[in-house]
Amino acid sequence: MAFPTHVKLVEMSPRDGLQNESSDAFGGMVPTEIKLELIHRLSNTGLTHIEAASFVSPKWVPQMADAKEVMQGIQRRENIIYSALTPNLKGAENAIAAQANEIAVFSAASEAFTQKNINCSIEESLTRFEPVIALAKSHNIPVRGYVSTVLGCPYQGAVSPEEVARVTKRLYDMGCYEISLGDTIGTGTPLNAKRMLEAVSRDVPMNKLAAHFHDTYGQAIGNLYAVLEEGISIIDASVAGLGGCPYAQGASGNVASEDVLYLLQGLGIESGVDLEKMIETGYWISDKLKRKNGSKVALGKGRTNPLASTCG
Ligand code: HMG
Ligand code: MG
Repeated sequence: MAFPTHVKLVEMSPRDGLQNESSDAFGGMVPTEIKLELIHRLSNTGLTHIEAASFVSPKWVPQMADAKEVMQGIQRRENIIYSALTPNLKGAENAIAAQANEIAVFSAASEAFTQKNINCSIEESLTRFEPVIALAKSHNIPVRGYVSTVLGCPYQGAVSPEEVARVTKRLYDMGCYEISLGDTIGTGTPLNAKRMLEAVSRDVPMNKLAAHFHDTYGQAIGNLYAVLEEGISIIDASVAGLGGCPYAQGASGNVASEDVLYLLQGLGIESGVDLEKMIETGYWISDKLKRKNGSKVALGKGRTNPLASTCG
């Protein structure tokens, strides 16, 4: 396979990036205005898809308790999809009522992780998604699917490419228009990533698959290179590498959007997203959360705008 000429970058920071944020900068909870300002700044970078929030149980993920206020408070751009993660019908109803442009359902290729994350088996999760997908279809809202633990599970260890392929195909056959493959704990390596993708893409077209790699072991950019070479053209990433999964101990953030953009530039692949604006946004949110910027490219280049920390 050849490298794609264009990659769609799906920005994860307002959801995956913040869902596990425990920074004491704001006494634990990131204020809704900061989330909205982050989404606003991201909307100015050229992104076309931002996962803005998740409509999950606030008992399970307190940081997303203001999903409705976030979704309703966005200064929308017509060309940008603001999507929401939903585990069940209740979440989907709330997301649609709050005007999510797209919803996403999430399962995994590991039974143990699915139990910890959404308190049911893989099969039960797929059954739960049936009415979610039907509801979304009746509103003409596209549904994205996620499969977690595609390159390893924090509870079960190794995960077979065949199981990843099975769950991915089920979600695709159920009507998800795109399936994002999550290396939830970032333990994958380029060869494993390639083998997993080879198995999955036998059943689901490559252009319907996204790479969602966390960078816990520092392998995400290498893994992305490997799957780009296989033909992947949709990448999930998070500005400043924000994030981690609340039900995957030790998992660090998604690969940093800035680092992905730099990789794509080097490969001559278009994304339509402005690296400098992304770097500025990454420094802004890192300052607000009082965390070290997790983008290697941002740290290497330094602040492009010396006022970034004081302009908002
Ligand atoms: P449960 O406890 O089995 O569900 O949780 P339940 O139906 O018994 O409900 C428990 C309570 O939650 C009830 O409230 C429900 O009303 C409420 P109570 O009666 O006790 O007051 N509830 C809800 N409230 C708001 N919105 C909802 C909702 N559903 C129920 N949608 C459940 C099951 C799925 C709800 C729970 O396990 C959950 O919310 N899990 C979410 C976990 C999560 O968000 N994990 C992180 C996202 S996944 C991820 O990060 C991976 C990904 O990035 C890819 C990768 O990296 O691999 C996507
Ligand atoms: Mg994730």
